[in-house]
Amino acid sequence: MSTFDLFDADADPAANAPLVLEPGASVLRGFALARVGTLRRDLDAVIAAAPLRHLVTPGGKTMSVAMTNCGALGWFSDRSGYRYTGCDPLSDRPWPAMPASFRALAVSAASRAGFEGFAPDACLVNRYVPGARLTLHQDRDERQLGQPIVSVSLGLPAVFLWGGAQRGDRTRRVPLSHGDVVVWGGPARLRFHGVMPLAEGEHAFMGACRINLTFRCAG
Ligand code: SIN
Ligand code: FE2
Repeated sequence: MSTFDLFDADADPAANAPLVLEPGASVLRGFALARVGTLRRDLDAVIAAAPLRHLVTPGGKTMSVAMTNCGALGWFSDRSGYRYTGCDPLSDRPWPAMPASFRALAVSAASRAGFEGFAPDACLVNRYVPGARLTLHQDRDERQLGQPIVSVSLGLPAVFLWGGAQRGDRTRRVPLSHGDVVVWGGPARLRFHGVMPLAEGEHAFMGACRINLTFRCAG
């Protein structure tokens, strides 16, 4: 590789080689960076239409992460269980449409990670403030487990926990920064994963929070 190639890879983060966590799972460092301006604008419109809220788990605990959705389907939880809905239960209106910028990013990240033809119909928006965390879980409420998960990080850095097929398996700590994208599918689709409590901080572009967008094919 010439220095010119190296320079090109730096100038275009999408050209960097993925960090492979295991077959089917990779981290695309900075993949979303070139698009964060548009993503932020479209995110603000989604949140204005369907406000972030703290959901309650079936066990009755209020989640520390605030959530909303865009796309044909949205993930929801309350005392009666986890499920995907076509309408926002807060307003009884359909979830806001998935912005074209969101879909294009998700489809190109999936393709970069080796999953062609990703067709997301759901995007869960998670907002973490310092102290908020997500305990180990599997994403398994989706009907299309043949399609990957694409997870976009914006704002404050976080430590992503990458586990195994069983909840008790060892976890690997993967630091994620503004603009990073994680993709997991195929043999890694049902891996346990979570997010450690967010550290205090102020992000120049996103403020004192981390936003995560997870794209799925749920219906
Ligand atoms: C999730 O598992 O739904 C979110 C992961 C993250 O916030 O990085
Ligand atoms: Fe998840």
